[in-house]
Amino acid sequence: MDHFLYRDGALYAEDVPVADIAAAVGTPFYVYSTATLLRHYQLFDEALEGTDHLVCYAMKAASNQAILRTLAQAGAGMDVVSVGEYLRARAAGVPGEKIVFSGVGKTAEEIRVALEGGIRQFNVESEPEMEAISAVAQALGKVAPITIRVNPDVDAKTHAKIATGKSENKFGIPIARASAVYAHAAALPGLEVVGIDVHIGSQLTDLAPFEAAYLKVADLTEKLRAEGHDIRRLDLGGGLGIPYTRSNEAPPLPLDYGALIKRTLGHLGCEIEIEPGRLIAGNAGLMVSKVIYVKSGEGRDFLILDGAMNDLIRPAMYDAHHDIVPVVEPEPGAEPQPYDIVGPVCETGDTFAKGRMMPPLAAGDLVAFRSAGAYGAVMSSEYNTRPLIPEILVNGDQFAVIRARPSFDEIINRDTIPSWL
Ligand code: LLP
Repeated sequence: MDHFLYRDGALYAEDVPVADIAAAVGTPFYVYSTATLLRHYQLFDEALEGTDHLVCYAMKAASNQAILRTLAQAGAGMDVVSVGEYLRARAAGVPGEKIVFSGVGKTAEEIRVALEGGIRQFNVESEPEMEAISAVAQALGKVAPITIRVNPDVDAKTHAKIATGKSENKFGIPIARASAVYAHAAALPGLEVVGIDVHIGSQLTDLAPFEAAYLKVADLTEKLRAEGHDIRRLDLGGGLGIPYTRSNEAPPLPLDYGALIKRTLGHLGCEIEIEPGRLIAGNAGLMVSKVIYVKSGEGRDFLILDGAMNDLIRPAMYDAHHDIVPVVEPEPGAEPQPYDIVGPVCETGDTFAKGRMMPPLAAGDLVAFRSAGAYGAVMSSEYNTRPLIPEILVNGDQFAVIRARPSFDEIINRDTIPSWL
């Protein structure tokens, strides 16, 4: 569900016409809905009702501080994967005790900043990392709370680039080695083992892989407890998928996911953490772009947009589908026609869709990419010296620019030319 609907023939973001935002800030831009962000957060929160839990938003999905603060004010914690994300979450007002730190390559410096600033736990991914955290904690006279990420060797049945829970993936420690690794952690003076972490992948549209992984985590919890570890917290990662098309997909609902968690793990009495990113932000954001030209090619028409692969890389990188809709609602009789929808970047990969059926469009028309709120703005770049596009947050009938479009001077002046030139 989202809050981007047609009203009187025009696409709205909550109570704001998308065309008004375009007129104010120019195109392309990202726009997010506060109501959708909050609703998705609350769906998870309600799904875990009755269980001690914390929903730690995976801020890698969309990390603007206005989004973070919106969610944090509703009670969310954060899952961060770099010191940059940690500092950004803190700047947005998230307390350290609500931040979990994931990622396979945390450096000693990143660990130090998080330990000094306050952290709920590190989700540890390897034995060398464990030793590094212990050493930094000891040097600071602190004890670092940790979980250890186990790799349950479960096939998440998602795109290979975003599956993480198979033994061939770089993530976590093999679940079969857990006893030895937990014993190692328990022996390190700077660590306090508080639980287990697992994350098997992203855009999962079936609950079965979660169930397989969580059953393994349940067994492991009992085993580790029997071995003397105080396992009291389970971080179950993120990954619940979203519908990217309006028609055929119906991924499981957060409520069913919550019920699965309670069924597989509820008897253990652990505090539950989850790290959803995409489901909170994905359908809470649009990328809005303008048609620059309609070009007739050999047997096809191209819609050339002012948005490109550097602004939204998911189609080029994962062959991802995004619904693309006109900002002016098509007339009921308008005969759809196929278009190849492309950006201006000098690569064939800069293609958003091929043969996409759209109502007839002309230069100057606005289109909106749906489901672009997660892994959209955060993965954008300035390739082709194209400025990062602005981000807008809507709340009811108000909107605010939450990241402005940089000027060309700002971009160009970031380079420095050495004195020998
Ligand atoms: N926790 C961990 C440890 C993760 O690695 C991720 C995502 C999440 C939570 C959040 O997963 P989510 O709920 O968003 O599925 N750029 C890709 C997705 C990469 C996901 C990386 N890890 C895309 O555009 O599809």
